[in-house]
Amino acid sequence: MELDSVEQKTIRSGIPGLDELLGGKGFPEGSVTFIVGGPGTGKTTFGLQYLCSGAEVGEFGVYICLDENLNSILGHSAALGLNVYGYSKEGKISLVDSSPPSPNAAKALKFLRSPQTSLSTLLHTISSATKGVGYPLRPAKRVVIDSLATLILQFPGDAERRLAIKGIIDTVRPLKCTTLLLSELSHSSSDRAYAFEEYLADGILLMRDLTTPQTSDHSFSVEKMRGIPHDKRLHPYRIARGGLTVFSNEIIDY
Ligand SMILES: Nc1ncnc2c1ncn2[C@@H]1O[C@H](COP(=O)(O)OP(=O)(O)OP(=O)(O)O)[C@@H](O)[C@H]1O
Ligand SMILES: [Mg+2]
Repeated sequence: MELDSVEQKTIRSGIPGLDELLGGKGFPEGSVTFIVGGPGTGKTTFGLQYLCSGAEVGEFGVYICLDENLNSILGHSAALGLNVYGYSKEGKISLVDSSPPSPNAAKALKFLRSPQTSLSTLLHTISSATKGVGYPLRPAKRVVIDSLATLILQFPGDAERRLAIKGIIDTVRPLKCTTLLLSELSHSSSDRAYAFEEYLADGILLMRDLTTPQTSDHSFSVEKMRGIPHDKRLHPYRIARGGLTVFSNEIIDY
């Protein structure tokens, strides 16, 4: 086989400005990427925008919601002007609610105390939801899991947590879906410690709120992306109606 014929296939992120940081092309097809950010930095917006842009070009997707419930997600996407509801009605995005049973505190606690059950339920949900999206059923090309926060709370030990995340990655890899795992960042410092599970992923994108009393800055960086040359610098980004935009021509010195 000639080397030219094994060129990496890519999937467009759908975020204006981001593909420029990813070798000009987007995510390597079939890759698993952590989108890491603090509260309110735009992780959910990123995931929904990624799925909408796929739906537009016939790359169907699955959104698995582990923390917020689907009504809240649909409200959020409508406020941003993202057509998640429309695409889900057309069968181009499959919305799966795996959020904990919040109205009942006893049930919610039971859920937190049964990590193995919730992990195996999640793995089963991923496998079945990605097999077929829409009518007629077509395999999903894009998957978003929003977010790993509760699952990580259920597996507080490093070793168990790493195994749980490995279970998710091992489940999505053979499906050949390009997957985003949304994950929390506990602090916004530039010298953040890597979580063990991040070593398992192909990519890590970091969204930081660098707001100070003097400035309001959000920075976006590609910390890692296996298989493609990428820009590692910090770039500003903005959330507005329509979603996220990364300003790939501007650099933040931090
Ligand atoms: N229509 C809008 N215009 C501008 N900004 C918006 C709009 N809707 C939401 N936002 C901004 O988007 C941010 C929330 O984004 P999002 O929910 O995607 O973040 P997140 O990282 O998923 O948050 P969480 O940690 O709570 O899950 C809010 O901080 C808000 O400022
Ligand atoms: Mg969110």
